[in-house]
Amino acid sequence: MKTTYLITFILILFTNIVYPNWIPRKENNKSVNICDKLDEYVNSPYSEEEFLKYTDVKACYELTSYNKTKAIQVIETVKEYLKGFYALLDQAKEEPNPGFALRPIDLISELDLVLKNNYSYEYQFIYDVASLTEELRDGHTALRSDDYYKYTFDQGLSMYSVIKKDGTQQIKVFNDIKEPNNVDCQVIDIDDRPAIDVIIEFARDHTFYSKDLSARFNSALASLAFGNGDFYIAGQIFSYRDQLPKNPSISYTLNCNGKFSKITREWQVPIKSVQYKSPYISGTSVGNATLIFDAFIARFYILQEFGVVLISTEDVIDNSWDLQYHFLSNIIAGFKLFADKGIKKIILDLSNNGGGIIFIGNYINKLLFPNIQNFPLDYKVNDISIPFIKEISRIKKGIGNIFHYKSFLSVKTKSSFDNVNDFIGNNIYTRGGVQVRYTSKAFHNDTTNYIGTFKLPKPPKFPWTEKDIVILTNGRCSSSCATIAQRLAEINVPTIAVGGFPNTRFSFAQFAVGDASSSAIFQPLLELKNINSSLVSKLSLPSSLTFHFTLAEAYSIKNPNEVMDYAYRPADYQLYYDERSARDPSCLWIQAAEYFGK
Ligand SMILES: *[C@@H]1O[C@H](CO)[C@@H](O)[C@H](O)[C@H]1NC(C)=O
Ligand SMILES: *[C@@H]1O[C@H](CO)[C@@H](O)[C@H](O)[C@H]1NC(C)=O
Ligand SMILES: *[C@@H]1O[C@H](CO)[C@@H](O)[C@H](O)[C@H]1NC(C)=O
Ligand SMILES: *[C@@H]1O[C@H](CO)[C@@H](O)[C@H](O)[C@H]1NC(C)=O
Ligand SMILES: *[C@@H]1O[C@H](CO)[C@@H](O)[C@H](O)[C@H]1NC(C)=O
Ligand SMILES: *[C@@H]1O[C@H](CO)[C@@H](O)[C@H](O)[C@H]1NC(C)=O
Repeated sequence: MKTTYLITFILILFTNIVYPNWIPRKENNKSVNICDKLDEYVNSPYSEEEFLKYTDVKACYELTSYNKTKAIQVIETVKEYLKGFYALLDQAKEEPNPGFALRPIDLISELDLVLKNNYSYEYQFIYDVASLTEELRDGHTALRSDDYYKYTFDQGLSMYSVIKKDGTQQIKVFNDIKEPNNVDCQVIDIDDRPAIDVIIEFARDHTFYSKDLSARFNSALASLAFGNGDFYIAGQIFSYRDQLPKNPSISYTLNCNGKFSKITREWQVPIKSVQYKSPYISGTSVGNATLIFDAFIARFYILQEFGVVLISTEDVIDNSWDLQYHFLSNIIAGFKLFADKGIKKIILDLSNNGGGIIFIGNYINKLLFPNIQNFPLDYKVNDISIPFIKEISRIKKGIGNIFHYKSFLSVKTKSSFDNVNDFIGNNIYTRGGVQVRYTSKAFHNDTTNYIGTFKLPKPPKFPWTEKDIVILTNGRCSSSCATIAQRLAEINVPTIAVGGFPNTRFSFAQFAVGDASSSAIFQPLLELKNINSSLVSKLSLPSSLTFHFTLAEAYSIKNPNEVMDYAYRPADYQLYYDERSARDPSCLWIQAAEYFGK
């Protein structure tokens, strides 16, 4: 019931198992339920199988026919969550900033239209609803199904994009597990169409990591990320997907040093979790940078005369309070080491950071800039949300939870709300042509939101100002990461985005919100005493389905009426990947150091 988990969907599977050889598996026994058989392969410790076949997973998904009665119930429930809680529902109907690759969406009416389609199988319906919700390009909002997002489909080959000296853009092979000789071959065509067109189309229509097409393009391709104490290959959602792909294979036309070839790759589901460990960086050494402190969720390097900090805020999730305390005190220690060594300039590399606990983002901002204010937030107020706000606010121990008025400070008074009605307030805004009611604008009270057993150490006063820091991302700095990057950008810390398209500056971060939630998080709340049973049935989804959504929107401090999720904020500067810098971030750090104080 904690307020503060804020993470966008990420497709990272962490284990230490090395990628197995590609062994085709034996024919299965057709006389048993194929889904059970797949489960058996996955769960058996003695299984000889390395991969599930595309055709078997498809056959499993096709065991469940479309049931229109059930579909209507799903649509009605999702609509109830949207109307009651989805803070951006009406904003989504407005014409978006032209910097975004986004169309206005009236989600409620478009969900009704889905029911006009005839489907053969349930998964087709679920995928259509999921894809429609993803068209909001809101990384916190989507329908997910345990049944039909159960497997990850992998090509074993990932791509990246480089800008050549003459300004032309190329797609190349980043990594190939099956055929390492293909690495750095140019990808000319994908399924007989120009590779660049195919990737752009996929990024535009099938990814939702950003409202900005350049950042979505980056997420379709592979790039290095720091997380779980190591570098790994992230993104690559063109070749590493969680929806059953339409076709069983993809063909690639490659140009390897002038030799052309066409290869075909089947989609396969690795049974054992795959960690795409970076084959390009070994251990902690990155180019000529010297690691001075490894804090697991953060690394502190010195390169030339400047410092570089990598932070993986998502790693704090699911850890005990003790461990969170440990992480946070280590981050303080790392910065202190920089200060002690006389480091005057710092690059914050937040590439491929999917978010984490919002408190951590606010905490890091305050560490560097003690007087900085958090982004204000508000929730929707209506017949569906009011009972929850009132009921949760009655619980004494509920302080720190979503909707509890004592979890917040009033933006107006900078102190706690006097009572729940004070928090509910009377704010009505026009959004998407309709009047919508929201709570009073509030800040998270970070003291109540950090329910740890330890009092965090008081950080020393650090010497750096906004002129001494630059933020570097690949456009994927989401959620809590965006509360760092976008908040610091508002006090004029320069921002740099790497990748995208030639001479096209693009968003360095997205989805800075006040809170994200889901139907699963609401399940225990439905059991609260005074929640009307008709409300309970309206908000109950089948247990295999979860609807995730943005619960509280955040506002800019600089532009107080601007909702951060819809604020188009391109980076101040753009860098590009080349064959070397895509595999060695220190090359980008040296380029980024040009922008201190600019
Ligand atoms: C197929 O599975 C059924 C039921 O589990 C079993 O009785 C049968 O012997 C199996 N056939 C083969 C060829 O493995
Ligand atoms: C269709 O779904 C409804 C509601 O979930 C259920 O009651 C009904 O039994 C289902 N019909 C079939 C044929 O499975
Ligand atoms: C869907 O199926 C119904 C009944 O089978 C049919 O009347 C209708 O025309 C179909 N609609 C579409 C869009 O195919
Ligand atoms: C590291 O420094 C050496 C010597 O100055 C230089 O040749 C090399 O290119 C540098 N490596 C990187 C990745 O910048
Ligand atoms: C924030 O919450 C804490 C603990 O609940 C409380 O002691 C403190 O006064 C609150 N902060 C403000 C500024 O009211
Ligand atoms: C519960 O909600 C229904 C429908 O909104 C309403 O008719 C009924 O009076 C409510 N019951 C209580 C106890 O508030």
